[in-house]
Amino acid sequence: MADLFSSYRLKNVELRNRIAIPPMCQYMAIDGVANDWHKAHYATLARGGSGLVIVEATAVAPEGRITPHCLGLWNDDQAEQLREIAAAIKAAGAVPGIQIAHAGRKASANIPWEGDDHIPANDVRGWQTIAPSAKAFGSLLPRVPTEMTVADILRVQQNFVDAASRAVDAGFEWLELHFAHGYLAQSFTSTHSNLRNDEYGGNAENRGRFASETLAAVRKVWPEKLPLTARFGVLEFDGQDEQTLNESIQLVNQWKQLGLDMLSVSIGFSTPEARIPWGPAFLAPIAQRVRNEAGIPVSSAWGFGAPDLADQAIRNEQLDLAMIGRAHLENPNWSYQAAKELHKDNPAWVLPAPYAHWLSRYSDPRQR
Ligand SMILES: Cc1cc2nc3c(=O)[nH]c(=O)nc-3n(C[C@H](O)[C@H](O)[C@H](O)COP(=O)(O)O)c2cc1C
Repeated sequence: MADLFSSYRLKNVELRNRIAIPPMCQYMAIDGVANDWHKAHYATLARGGSGLVIVEATAVAPEGRITPHCLGLWNDDQAEQLREIAAAIKAAGAVPGIQIAHAGRKASANIPWEGDDHIPANDVRGWQTIAPSAKAFGSLLPRVPTEMTVADILRVQQNFVDAASRAVDAGFEWLELHFAHGYLAQSFTSTHSNLRNDEYGGNAENRGRFASETLAAVRKVWPEKLPLTARFGVLEFDGQDEQTLNESIQLVNQWKQLGLDMLSVSIGFSTPEARIPWGPAFLAPIAQRVRNEAGIPVSSAWGFGAPDLADQAIRNEQLDLAMIGRAHLENPNWSYQAAKELHKDNPAWVLPAPYAHWLSRYSDPRQR
């Protein structure tokens, strides 16, 4: 039976355990370019012992950034700095992953600790947003986006393809397409944000078309031997959940045929009216349903930060990988802490040798 510390193979990539660090925006970039903050941050996370580190939402185009301080991957300068990050993650023994993203109508926002709200329209730091329809998210994000033309759709899909090419060239071995959290791709799938009546709107298949076409196009440039994954909000907690979940599972089935290797099961965040039942491991049964009904490996985040919960989700075959986010901000060596709590033999050896040797009981001078 697999547990949290079993290795995991997907395509030609082998993770040393089932612990993954999900993408977490740092809001520290200038012009989308990573800097010393990101280099230290990602190296520290990777040295903590997880199997996979996924670099934060990285915009495929300038207008696709959530905030002016998000990472980007639309030019070669950005790729050069990310190359160092991929190498540092790999040198620490983790697999380097990256999430590529377009924020759609949720773009052009202030960073969280400066309000998390839309930058006012008359402020030069902001920009006009684009989305399937000219409908604002609401609440803190009232800016009305411009409805995308089919030419806009094709351009953004090409932006995803170009960013994927740059990502593999920069040394990333795991790609996650951000189809979740109310950003552009999710906003096409959701009736909360997609009011179109062309081939990209209306029924579930049409609403899924933007994401499906993007996935198919990226698969052509992303190597067959490397995992291509997506993060997708399979439900909204808006009272329509059974129907949304069924439609989502159908869509994921289609994505599997198009070459998707794993789904990171998440929440739609398409409406401020959602009532989300936050709690420890609350998405585990939903992830398991997607895993069984779509027949695809799954990961999930949100509330697996207690090691026994993450371990149980793997043992119960609810998840193939457990995503541990904020707990890694609290303790970058979360994997070591988990190994101790789960009574693994030689827990220190989840860490790299320069740390593990001195923390191992065999190296403890008091025990010699
Ligand atoms: C600071 C921060 C930044 C985040 N940025 C992203 C992101 O770039 N992409 C994404 O898909 N989710 C993002 N999330 C959501 C996390 O990936 C994760 O789902 C969330 O933190 C819940 O997992 P946890 O309970 O283990 O923290 C972010 C969360 C935090 C706390």
